[in-house]
Amino acid sequence: MSLLFSPIRLRGTELRNRLWIAPMCQYSCEAGDGVPGDWHLVHLSALARGGAGLVLTEAAAVSPEGRISPQDAGVWDDAQEAAWTRIVQVVHDLGGTIGVQLAHAGRKASTRRPWDRPQGSVPASEGGWTAVAPSAVAYPGYAEPEALTEQAVATVVEDFAAATARSVRAGFDVLEVHAAHGYLLHQFLSPLSNTRDDAWGGPLEHRARLLLDVVRAVRAEAGDRPVLVRLSGTDWTEGGWTIEDTAVVSRWAREAGADLIDVSSGGNVPARIATGPGYQVPLAGRVRDAGLVASAVGLITEAEQAEQVLAEGRADAVMIARAALRDPNTPLHWQQRLDGAAPWPAQYERAAV
Ligand SMILES: Cc1cc2nc3c(=O)[nH]c(=O)nc-3n(C[C@H](O)[C@H](O)[C@H](O)COP(=O)(O)O)c2cc1C
Repeated sequence: MSLLFSPIRLRGTELRNRLWIAPMCQYSCEAGDGVPGDWHLVHLSALARGGAGLVLTEAAAVSPEGRISPQDAGVWDDAQEAAWTRIVQVVHDLGGTIGVQLAHAGRKASTRRPWDRPQGSVPASEGGWTAVAPSAVAYPGYAEPEALTEQAVATVVEDFAAATARSVRAGFDVLEVHAAHGYLLHQFLSPLSNTRDDAWGGPLEHRARLLLDVVRAVRAEAGDRPVLVRLSGTDWTEGGWTIEDTAVVSRWAREAGADLIDVSSGGNVPARIATGPGYQVPLAGRVRDAGLVASAVGLITEAEQAEQVLAEGRADAVMIARAALRDPNTPLHWQQRLDGAAPWPAQYERAAV
C-alpha cells in the first residue's frame, strides 16, 4: 500500500488516508448572511465522495467583520451552525471526514470576491465595513484598517472559542486555525503588518501571543478532535516573517495544543513568489525537521509527486486544492494509480480506471 493512502491518527481521530482537500473559499453565501447553502453542500460532499482522507471547508469567519468578502461563510450564529450541521451530516453519510477552517481576515476583510469588479475594498454603501488589524497599516490597495484595542484582541480569542464550540456542535471532526495568507493571525505574527508596542507586538513572543491564545482557546473547546494550524512559512519578503520564525512558533503552537502544522506561504504583502511544482514542500520539510507533524500543499498535482513528498519525509500528509476542483475524484484516481485499486462508490465502479 502507498504511504499516501495509509491511515494517519491525529489525537483521537483516524483519517483513512493522507491526501486531503485544502480549504477553498467559495464566496457563495449570496444573501451576505454567512450561511452555507446548497452550493457548499454539493461542493463539499462531492469532494468527500472523491476519496480524500479529510475535507477542509473554506475559511469560515468567526465574526462578521472577519469575513474576506460579504459572501464568505461564517460560524458565528445559529443559522450558520444549523446549515453546517446539515453539510457535515451528508459528508459523514458518505463516509467522509470533515474539518472547518476558522478564520478572521483582519485588514484583508471587506474586499470584493475574486470575480466581482472593481477589485479592492467594498465601500460601506455596498455593505462593506471597516476592517480591523494589529496596526492601522493597510494591505496595499485596500482601505486602511483600524488597530484593535487590547479589549478587542481579547474578543477575537473569545470569537474563535465560540466558533469552535459551534463547530463541535455541528459535528465537525477536525478544527483548523487559519493563521496564514496575510489574514488576522498572520498579520499579528509578521513585523511587516504588526507595529504594535504593547504585549501583542514587538518581539516574536509578543507577535505570536494572539495565535497561541487562539490555539489554546480552540483546543479547550475541541475535546479530543485534532486541531490543525495553517501557517505561512514565509512572507517571501526581506524583513518579514521567515521559515525560522515558523519553526519556532510551530513548536509553541504544539505546546498550546496544535496537532499538525499545515504549511503554506505568502499573502501578507505583495511579493514575487517563484511558484512551481511542490514549491512550498521545502517549507513543510523544515517544520517537520523541527519535530512537528506537518502537511504540505501547493502545486502538488500528480500521484507520484505526492507519494514522494511522504517517502522523502518532508510531510506527514499532502493537501490539494485546484486539482480537486478540476476533478473531485482525484484522490480515487491517485489511489487507483498507486495501489491498483480504490474504494470507488459502487454506483461509479464502472468508471474506475
Ligand atoms: C478557489 C480557492 C480558494 C481558496 N481559499 C482558501 C481558504 O479559504 N483558506 C486557505 O487557507 N487557503 C485557500 N486557498 C489556498 C488553497 O488552500 C491552497 O493552499 C492553494 O490553492 C495551493 O494548493 P493547490 O496548488 O493544490 O491549488 C484557496 C485556493 C483556491 C484555488
